[in-house]
Amino acid sequence: MPISSSSRILVFDSGIGGLGVVQALRSLAPSLTIDYLADTALFPYGEQPDDLLRERIAKLICQACEHLKPSLVIIACNTASTLALPILREKLTLPIVGCVPPVRWAGRVSNSRTIGLLATSATARRPYLKQLHEDFAADCKLIVHGSRHLANMAERAFRGEQVAPDEVQHELACLFEQPNGHDIDTVGLGCTHYTFLLPYFQRLGPAGIMWLDPAPAVAQQALRRLEDTAESPPLSDLPLPSDRFFLTAAPAEGQDLASHIAWLGFTNGWQIFS
Ligand code: DGL
Repeated sequence: MPISSSSRILVFDSGIGGLGVVQALRSLAPSLTIDYLADTALFPYGEQPDDLLRERIAKLICQACEHLKPSLVIIACNTASTLALPILREKLTLPIVGCVPPVRWAGRVSNSRTIGLLATSATARRPYLKQLHEDFAADCKLIVHGSRHLANMAERAFRGEQVAPDEVQHELACLFEQPNGHDIDTVGLGCTHYTFLLPYFQRLGPAGIMWLDPAPAVAQQALRRLEDTAESPPLSDLPLPSDRFFLTAAPAEGQDLASHIAWLGFTNGWQIFS
């Protein structure tokens, strides 16, 4: 069925990372209503223990689905998806679209057959990543940098703060200066936050690299799933609340965040999810 203004979806991440997917959704389906939930109380996910995260994500998404009643959920976070997709699919019956490192895509397009991946430390060490490599790009050498800092830099870049080029260059060196790193011709963004650092990577990274940002493909996949979902009509004639932006903890610069999410359609500021 076509996307209608009564279609409501929930986009989830630990912070601003999922907004790259929201940006793609806005241009593909302007009438879609989007609720965004950022688990800022536990940001950065990439530095949290797996057990804590798995339990936390399952509880939070179940609560959010109960309150917000989306037709579909996008887990717009690689760190969450590579850990919690199975448990979420067990607990929820609605369609869930995840976001996983674009290793398959990189394997399809790399000429040098040496591919790079930037991700959080948690995603970098997950068996899920090893499996993706074995299943979809086994003939490529995969070089990974699990970064403790890039997600934070992306939060700053999103709020319009300048990120020092040396900081980004240092992180890129951690990828390209590994053994065989100079053979890399394609780098996948394995953390949704990195969408907002892409201009820095393109400017400061080696020339000729193909940078793969999965955000538009995740948005397209979500819209395909939504079209296949038979939707029940709204229960009353009352207008549905418009796009809402929830956080689990207030940001230090609240006012600042409100002005930066407005251009993505969240014009009523943010509120605490409880
Ligand atoms: N945006 C998240 C991801 O895609 C992670 C950032 C964090 O460490 O919280 O992995």
